[in-house]
Amino acid sequence: MTDTAASHVLDRVLVLEMVRVTEAAAIAASKLVGRGDEKAADAAAVEAMRKAFDTLYMDGTVVIGEGERDEAPMLYIGEKVGGAPGNGPKIDIALDPLEGTTITAKAGPNALAVLAAAEEGCLLNAPDVYMDKLAVGPGYPEGVIDLDKSVQENVEAVAAAKGVKASDIIVCVLDRPRHADLIAQLRAMGCGIQLIPDGDVAGVIAVTNPETTIDMYMGSGGAPEGVLAAAALRCVGGQFNGRLLFRNDDEKARARKWGITDLNRVYKLEDLAKGDCIFAATGVTDGSLLEGVKRLKGGRMTTQSVVMRASSGTVRWIKGEHRSN
Ligand code: FBP
Repeated sequence: MTDTAASHVLDRVLVLEMVRVTEAAAIAASKLVGRGDEKAADAAAVEAMRKAFDTLYMDGTVVIGEGERDEAPMLYIGEKVGGAPGNGPKIDIALDPLEGTTITAKAGPNALAVLAAAEEGCLLNAPDVYMDKLAVGPGYPEGVIDLDKSVQENVEAVAAAKGVKASDIIVCVLDRPRHADLIAQLRAMGCGIQLIPDGDVAGVIAVTNPETTIDMYMGSGGAPEGVLAAAALRCVGGQFNGRLLFRNDDEKARARKWGITDLNRVYKLEDLAKGDCIFAATGVTDGSLLEGVKRLKGGRMTTQSVVMRASSGTVRWIKGEHRSN
């Protein structure tokens, strides 16, 4: 652990306590798994996460949340959370109480309740636009991936650094029509492609876990999810490049409103989540990162969570047993 002011601020929040918050959201959302109702699942997770924050001694501010104040009743950007407003340590929070609303509604894989926390001003206030993402796990030379280079150049660079052929590289991509060209380029190189229906926070983090066999993440998804995934990679290692994508002037205006001046900038890990930071997630449904909530006989439930911290590099896997509420 480093002896910086930043780590001191996060010490006082009790890193492990962040898991209570993601657990509460995951448990609430789990009641709606496979029920075909995205909105109800999201609302349950949001409400539970909002309530759980009140138990933490901190003066928290949501910097990435459920939307802007006029569009989200709870956990909106700018909302104060935590049980010690004005007194506790000032913490910025990026959150997604239910990352994978459609997955949850369809009982698919990799739905998570997720948050990242850092000292005030250390998380990018990413607007809710798309982000082009490129990620690789730990152990590669710095700069092996570069969003300014072509798909082929990036795959070849990773393959060379790994000591394999480009056709041995496995890339995780969100299954979307907008990725047809990317997928065609990867197919032409003979790469393996793991297409995921949703949930690119887990998709990006999968590059850090050799058991997934995924080498790279490529393609566009939500910018807020990019910040969450970057916080996790800051803790476990890996490289990330992200560039905001704008579909219209309104989206550009939203970015400027959050202080973003260079709309073409390529963001690396430290640009998205700097200083000390915490990443916490609890599985809602089974996935490559975590097991989902299991509802057992007798009203018991089990959860699996992970909480990581950048300054120490500690990764804690937490299995919880809970009584039904
Ligand atoms: P939600 O939980 O908000 O539905 O997000 C799921 C997700 O798949 C994210 O993981 C991803 O970043 C984003 O949606 C991709 O957006 P789109 O569905 O528009 O391609």
